[in-house]
Amino acid sequence: MEERKASSQWGSRLGFMVAALGSALGLGSLWRFPYIAAENGGGLFVLVYLVFIVLLGVPLMAAEMAIGRSSQSSPVRAYGTLATRHKRAWQSIGVLGVITGVLILSYYSVVAGWSLDYLRLSLTGGLPTSNDIDAFKGVFDELLKSPGTLLFWHVVVMLCTAWVVGRGVKGGIEQVTEWLMAILFLILIVLLGYSMTLPTFIDSVKFVFGFHAEDFTSESVLEAAGHAFFTLSLGMGAMLTYGSYLDKRSGVLSTAVLVSVMDTVASLVACLVVFPVTLNGGITELKEGGPGLVFNTLPLSAQALPFGGVWISVVFALLFVAALASTVSLLEVPVSVLIDSFGLARRKATALAAGVITLLGTPAALSWTPGFFSAGMTKIFGKSWFDLVDNLSANWFLSLGALGTCLFIAFAMDRKQLAAEFVRNHEGGRKLFQLWFLTTTVVSPIIIVVVFLKTLNVF
Ligand code: TRP
Repeated sequence: MEERKASSQWGSRLGFMVAALGSALGLGSLWRFPYIAAENGGGLFVLVYLVFIVLLGVPLMAAEMAIGRSSQSSPVRAYGTLATRHKRAWQSIGVLGVITGVLILSYYSVVAGWSLDYLRLSLTGGLPTSNDIDAFKGVFDELLKSPGTLLFWHVVVMLCTAWVVGRGVKGGIEQVTEWLMAILFLILIVLLGYSMTLPTFIDSVKFVFGFHAEDFTSESVLEAAGHAFFTLSLGMGAMLTYGSYLDKRSGVLSTAVLVSVMDTVASLVACLVVFPVTLNGGITELKEGGPGLVFNTLPLSAQALPFGGVWISVVFALLFVAALASTVSLLEVPVSVLIDSFGLARRKATALAAGVITLLGTPAALSWTPGFFSAGMTKIFGKSWFDLVDNLSANWFLSLGALGTCLFIAFAMDRKQLAAEFVRNHEGGRKLFQLWFLTTTVVSPIIIVVVFLKTLNVF
């Protein structure tokens, strides 16, 4: 395959790595991981999650990057051109990926908007000053029931995202993500340093790494596998698209390992930033925070900190920065398909994709307002639109896309061409390639299928 033109390539290997990390490191790592780790028994859950990162995450990320780089094209075209037979059928993995990405972004952007509204509240003194958790819950509830506010921030997030994506690969995504990640790491390190000075730091370490087996169930295993995909942005072609902008000299396996390690470290650091503050604020039932951990429990506990008001503003700014690098990667997938398969100019493609996703986010923003899209009203499995789309895309479609990619590697792609992606850069040569191939075509699909069957309560 011919390489893409220079303006549609990463400026450097580091730029690619940072962009991939920016995609991975988002609300999944900073907002979702701490509360699901707490709910599922801390250390044991973390351990299982780490196993899945190694057995599912790293191999699949390398697979997506290799497919993208080898084809030098966006997901739909990539699966089609690389398949040695049945091109149309394999293409559907790419199509599913685009749909999944569009769905995920439509509600992810709404959640990213929450952090912006909380940033505004914390900066303008709009957060409660009492020690009453219900007061904080009230603020959160009020936000969820204000579709106007949710839509406003959703549009703001989409505009920021479209602005970055519209500027292109090198001059937009790469440049902006490098800035975002630099800011993110700076903030994260400062926050961690601060948490380490708190007397509750050691207790938090014990909580995150200690085994609390009573909270660990078979559901936890599913949760860990699903989260491994989501947090590494796998299963819908985001890493594939980013890999397609990579030149032929850089390695994919080493990047996949590095990105996975950094994302995991950041998730653990997020726990060690959040829990010392919550414990210090007198909240000991960490597993009860749920999705409100960052939005209710944390602002309440932060009041006990010196400079607590500043601290909590910094946290919400951090969430937004992290989310933006992720939304950019989600939008880039449909945009690259519109460019590659339909010949649209980048700006037009960006406007079109962002417009459709902004509209699709509207029912997500209306999910908590009594009416057609709220729970029980959609009449579809009794879930609100938000929960339905989240469940369908993040749990089902991502795993399905991941499984499809494993099967594609196993049956559809030319083995020599695939091996070239790994061996060309002398990344440990053939042995490592074979180990990767075995994991991707045997171990990962088995785990995915078992998790599927378990979710369907087959056994
Ligand atoms: N990984 C991001 C997070 O943890 C979210 C994300 C970005 C994503 N791109 C994705 C999830 C693609 C699934 C697929 O927040």
